[in-house]
Amino acid sequence: MCGIIGFSGSLEAADVLVTGLEQLEYRGYDSAGIAVQSKQGIQSVKAVGNVGALKEKLKEKVFHGSCGIGHTRWATHGGVSEVNAHPHQFGKITLIHNGIIENYKEIWEEYGAGKTLVSQTDTEIAALLFDKLYQGKPEETIKKAVSILEGSYAFCIIFEDIPDIVYCVRKVSPLVAARAKEGSFVASDVTALIAYTQDYFVLPEETILVLKQDTLYLEDLDGNQVEPEMLHVNWDTTAAQKNGYPHYMIKEIHEQAEALRNTILPRIKDNMPNFEAEQIPDSIFKGIDQIKIVACGTAMHAGMVGKVLLEKRVRIPVGVEIASEFRYQNPIINEKTLVIVISQSGETIDTLASLRQAKSKKAITLAIVNVKGSTIARESDYVLYTHAGPEIAVASTKAYTVQIAALVLLTMRMAYVSGMSDIEVIKKDYELLKLAEEAVHISLAKEEEIKELTNILKEKEDLFFIGRGIDYALSCEGSIKLKEISYIHSEAYAAGELKHGTISLITEGVPVIAIATQESVYAKMISNIREVRARGALVILITQEGVEVEPSIYNYHLTIPKLPDEFTPIPTAVLLQLIAYYTSVHRGLNVDQPRNLAKSVTVE
Ligand code: F6R
Repeated sequence: MCGIIGFSGSLEAADVLVTGLEQLEYRGYDSAGIAVQSKQGIQSVKAVGNVGALKEKLKEKVFHGSCGIGHTRWATHGGVSEVNAHPHQFGKITLIHNGIIENYKEIWEEYGAGKTLVSQTDTEIAALLFDKLYQGKPEETIKKAVSILEGSYAFCIIFEDIPDIVYCVRKVSPLVAARAKEGSFVASDVTALIAYTQDYFVLPEETILVLKQDTLYLEDLDGNQVEPEMLHVNWDTTAAQKNGYPHYMIKEIHEQAEALRNTILPRIKDNMPNFEAEQIPDSIFKGIDQIKIVACGTAMHAGMVGKVLLEKRVRIPVGVEIASEFRYQNPIINEKTLVIVISQSGETIDTLASLRQAKSKKAITLAIVNVKGSTIARESDYVLYTHAGPEIAVASTKAYTVQIAALVLLTMRMAYVSGMSDIEVIKKDYELLKLAEEAVHISLAKEEEIKELTNILKEKEDLFFIGRGIDYALSCEGSIKLKEISYIHSEAYAAGELKHGTISLITEGVPVIAIATQESVYAKMISNIREVRARGALVILITQEGVEVEPSIYNYHLTIPKLPDEFTPIPTAVLLQLIAYYTSVHRGLNVDQPRNLAKSVTVE
């Protein structure tokens, strides 16, 4: 949450900051602001709304300077307003912050006497603290401040009397940094730096980063020099652009076949999944007596698919846990538990806390993560990276299908290692996984049809998704995708559960998206569809090709290619993503930046 960028170098800072904020906008878009050190001193501009609004304001104000900080906000503490937008200034300090200062009240009581605040934010109180402690030595000030501050933070600070230097420090909230020929950069994530370099490092916690025009360096809180551990991204600026698509979301929907290939192929050796390259030994799959999959939102829905697959093929109990619950529930796990955490960003605070909880209880931890070098990836015992490339749209699409692919690969390997499936079965699985990947194109070919049919959803206020087994997991995902970007109220129901209450909401014309791709429960699903149809539901039915369906039970029928039950989620997900996307487009909404949301949830 909140996008941060800092720069000191040879370019106009305002340009670098605004371009960087555009790349980081998906982290929050309630307000945006920049501060630049110019000949006239530190000058700030802030605007309510997204970076576009900030750019408009910048047209009225020209200032030159080659060092500055920029921020795009997702409001936590204090409403959405210009005074609450960052940067915040207090005395000699101007700073931007991502995170939450938990002891802001105590700080205010101790250091605020006689002072006046202009905003309602915890960040301004942090600025006050830095100013109070500042006696001309930035590093000393930061060291003292971090011994007082409680909570999570990534700060970039400029001092009024120290030109051309940005100081940074973080705890929990992410910051990455890089050197390039144009100068020194820091940002919440690498997408903002990629225009300048593909080599970067993650700022270690409680380390002070100093950005100067011609160099950057790090020191720990005892003043020792720290050598950064360099990382490299293998995608470039074009991967983080819309490249002719109207929205990032539809571009990312279209990138799924490639993302799947990139995730699957490097893990295949002799037609078998193999995790040698990532040093995930088979031994961790032996001797475990349960698996917990912990994640949030869409990543958790991928976990629900994983549970069905693992329980079916490996015959081991699997629990899927919502990370924000798991972390506070003293879970019953131990060294015989494999905890799989799933996260696109690798920074989701609740997933990270759950990982730490699992490690403290000696569970074996394995992370399925998309962002290289992210905190979850670094702190897990083992990492299986998905290779979806940068996902910019707030609604997750390609990251979800590659998470499912990673879970399929894990299931195959575990089924083999545990002796539940022999080598020939696993090789056949791989052929089927390739078919599932190819089926993405077949789902994408239905784009026009879906664009047309979603016209009937655009006026609706309530909608239901129903399914059984894997299709229930897909229903949950279809529902979150639709509601987050179209603002239509929607619920996902296990189809058999509907008549225990919810069916009272099904009246004439209420849309029900019925997912019936699972052969094993197909007949049961059809009965459930008849039940809603008999009450007037408008049914959009999704099945495999070639199944017999009575036309009277649906209004619209979409199909995926014929596949065994475990391999249907990927092409089905693509159909559901297109339904959500075009419904939002028809309603004239901002698809990539739905209200109140941000992509990376780094605060509780
Ligand atoms: C929905 C969506 C969210 C994320 C969730 C977890 O489209 O994107 O539900 O899946 O916030 O984020 P990560 O995967 O970054 O941990």
